[in-house]
Amino acid sequence: MIGLFDSGKGGLNTVRYVKELDERVDLVYLIDRENAPYGPRGECELVRISEENIDRLLDMGAERVLIACCTASTVYPLLKDNYRKLAVPIIKPIAKAAKNSTRSGRIGVIATKRTVTSHAFAKALGGCLVSECETGELVRLIDSGLSDKTVTRGDEKLIERMIVPVFKTSPDTLILGCTHFPALKKTIGRIAKKYGTESIIDSALIGAELIRREYEKLNEIKNDA
Ligand code: DGL
Repeated sequence: MIGLFDSGKGGLNTVRYVKELDERVDLVYLIDRENAPYGPRGECELVRISEENIDRLLDMGAERVLIACCTASTVYPLLKDNYRKLAVPIIKPIAKAAKNSTRSGRIGVIATKRTVTSHAFAKALGGCLVSECETGELVRLIDSGLSDKTVTRGDEKLIERMIVPVFKTSPDTLILGCTHFPALKKTIGRIAKKYGTESIIDSALIGAELIRREYEKLNEIKNDA
């Protein structure tokens, strides 16, 4: 069984995508409401939270853990060895998808405060021109019910004001660097298009693809044994 944890609604996007990709995937999702939001937290706190969550998932029967959250994935290199062996972070796979998508080598990232401060995406996107924009407020809006289905014109204007700095460098690809943000993927996509940004990289979808792969690997090991 694969375990995943996230601070709330973000992980639900990942779970939904996993079920769309392959409904047989056996998973357990820990919605860590207790420690949400992760974005404003410090590095040491996030290390403690991540290690505790991995322990809890292992206790629930998980054999591998996906750190489905971008913010928590930024502290993966700081986790103790035994946790790093069991857990899979999502920053590098997301960066790889963005590198495959960009033609201009200009990539934008919208993410929480911790993710932007860590520059984890910029580091993983070496060789590209990366603009990072802190949009942690979007997490709060999404947690309070805002989505593509409920968004009004006024909300869309507000979101545009929040994310517009990321378009300064004219990226052709935009990373939704927080798993909450796919709840507003269509809205953000519409705004991005106005600024000439065509491709949107969905972090929750990349997480879901990783989970499916990890699940297949686990099954192969079991079938070979
Ligand atoms: N969904 C999380 C992420 O992918 C973080 C949201 C939060 O708790 O601040 O970064």
